[in-house]
Amino acid sequence: MTEEYSPKIIGFCCRWCSYAGADLAGAMRLQYPPNIRILMVPCTGRVDILHLLKAFEMGADAVFVSGCHEGDCHYLRGNIQAWKRVAKVKKVLADIGLEPERLEMFHVSSGEGPKFAAISQEMTDRAYRLGPNPVRGEARAQWLAAQAQEEKAV
Ligand code: FES
Repeated sequence: MTEEYSPKIIGFCCRWCSYAGADLAGAMRLQYPPNIRILMVPCTGRVDILHLLKAFEMGADAVFVSGCHEGDCHYLRGNIQAWKRVAKVKKVLADIGLEPERLEMFHVSSGEGPKFAAISQEMTDRAYRLGPNPVRGEARAQWLAAQAQEEKAV
């Protein structure tokens, strides 16, 4: 029996803007796909390259970072640093054979609930179009193999 594909999407959202934008989308009762899992961060500048790669390694089908608009970051350049990191990770994804479109950076303010709903839909559509993250099965198989090794060693 094959399991129906339902993408897992991780959104790193700045607490000052996009997280509040997601909240507003909910308060406005806007519909957006339930595939999005939001991780609140104090600023998108806090999102490291390793966080993004780890999300894919753990099986996310798509990942996005959503922060304050340019010039509005509470820590001045956090969103610009995040944008540069996202650009770097897109190159890494392409190098390892994953589609760079699985990762994106957005800017959503706390008053842009409809925009948050729209980017959620956009990332979900992309994840459906691109299909499951091919790393997901491999990573899980490796993890299970490692667990079996540990059990043997005990
Ligand atoms: Fe929102 Fe920096 S405080 S992106």
